Amino acid sequence: MTQPPVCSYEGSRYSTEFWNPGRAYEDGAERVAMRALLPPQGRRLVEIGAGFGRLADLYTGYDTVVLFDYASTQLEQAVGRLGEYGPNGKPHYVYVQADFYRQPFVTGLFDTVTMVRTLHHAVDAPAVLRGISRILGPQGAFILEFANKHNLKALLRYLLRRQSWSPFTSKPVEFAALNFDFHPRWMWRQLEAAGLRRDAIRTVSHFRIGWLKRLMATSLLVQLDSWVQPTGMLWQWSPSVFVRSYAGAGRQAAAEGEFFRCPECGAPLGSPSQTEFVCSCGMRWKRQGLIYNFRDPA
Ligand SMILES: C[S@@+](CC[C@H](N)C(=O)[O-])C[C@H]1O[C@@H](n2cnc3c(N)ncnc32)[C@H](O)[C@@H]1O
Ligand SMILES: [Zn+2]
Repeated sequence: MTQPPVCSYEGSRYSTEFWNPGRAYEDGAERVAMRALLPPQGRRLVEIGAGFGRLADLYTGYDTVVLFDYASTQLEQAVGRLGEYGPNGKPHYVYVQADFYRQPFVTGLFDTVTMVRTLHHAVDAPAVLRGISRILGPQGAFILEFANKHNLKALLRYLLRRQSWSPFTSKPVEFAALNFDFHPRWMWRQLEAAGLRRDAIRTVSHFRIGWLKRLMATSLLVQLDSWVQPTGMLWQWSPSVFVRSYAGAGRQAAAEGEFFRCPECGAPLGSPSQTEFVCSCGMRWKRQGLIYNFRDPA
């Protein structure tokens, strides 16, 4: 099977170059949405495409927090910022390097999955959503942020003929190589097809306008955004949309003690207490420092 291409963040300066002080408003607005949608507690949470762990402090109510990314340099930064232990002094963070098309987790493992600013790099978003649905346990929650093609700026640009693609058509648009904007209507269909039931929507970053961000205090803009975010249940015109959906109650939870599975063949491989994983299919995987590498075979 050929793998879809990956948008590489290996060696990128994402944490400082993208998240510069000029994006404090977006960071604040996203945190408001996450706090509103995230089940505050649980046993296991994974963030898919966690990068350098920008949002990890929101996950302290979970016993085990898995930060999952393709790029080793992003995970190394996360390790440097967060380490292994949680606020109560117990092992808390598990770092996993893998491809979101080939999840190395057993079925039904997680209470909560989050994905922020990451699905927009997926050529085959439905395949990623199916993979996420598989790793959710009974009534597991999935908090997804996606880039919205049906946003006011795109509408204006389209009407003024400054943009060739229509914000109204449901097909995803690749506005730059391996960067996609999605239509909410299309996304709702994909979530349903993956067996996930949508229950809450927040529109986010309504005030992502350069001069407004320079003119107004960040805290005030974030406050304004937090008041408007619940209108996402009615319509979606913002550049960023957060949606919470749930897996059904009839699913099977992962068996006690099971955690990883082979990304190559799907056979169960054991738990994070191991540092090496030898699969019956012949593949070998290793923990390097604090990072479990299920991207490159050992
Ligand atoms: C824009 S960053 C978002 C990071 C974090 N969620 C945040 O909001 O700060 C996107 C992340 O997705 C990761 N990514 C892209 N393609 C991936 C893939 N195929 N599998 C796993 N991670 C991937 C990148 O390495 C990058 O760290
Ligand atoms: Zn295998």
